[in-house]
Amino acid sequence: MAIPELCFPFARELQEQHDALRAAVRWFQAEVEPAQPALAAERVNAREFLRVFREQLTQHFRFEELSGFEGGVGAHDPEIQRWTQELIRQHRAFEEHLDALSARLDATALDAGIPAVLLTELGAFFGALRRHDAEENALILWISRGPTDFARDTDGP
Ligand SMILES: [Fe+2]
Ligand SMILES: [Fe+2]
Repeated sequence: MAIPELCFPFARELQEQHDALRAAVRWFQAEVEPAQPALAAERVNAREFLRVFREQLTQHFRFEELSGFEGGVGAHDPEIQRWTQELIRQHRAFEEHLDALSARLDATALDAGIPAVLLTELGAFFGALRRHDAEENALILWISRGPTDFARDTDGP
C-alpha cells in the first residue's frame, strides 16, 4: 500500500536551507571569530567565508522568491501578503548590508586581523538573519495552518 505524501516539500527545503545557513554561521563563530583580532591569517578565512556565504545567501533568497513563499506573494489575506512582501524587501537590505561589511573588511590593512567593531556588527547581522528566517518559518506555518501567535520582529535587518 502506498504511503501518502504528508510532508510539504517547500517547507522541508526551506528548513534545510535555514539549517545550512545557521551551520555556516556556527562554523564562522567557532573557528574564525575566536582567533580575532589577533591573527591576521584568520582574516583570509573570514574573507573567503563572507564570499561563499554571500553566494549561499543569494541562492537562498532566490529560492524563496521564486517559490513565492508557498502562496504568500499572491495570498488573498492582506496580512500574509504584506508580511511576505516585507520579508522579500529585507532580502535586498541583507545583501546590501553584507556587501558593505565585506567591503569594510577588504579595506582593513592586510597584516591586521578583523576590527573588533566589525566582528560585533557581523554578529548583529547574523542575529538579524536568524530572526528573519524564524519569521519565514512562522509565515509558512501561518499559510499552511492558519494564524499563529508568533511575535514579529518589526525592527528588521
Ligand atoms: Fe528570506
Ligand atoms: Fe530564509
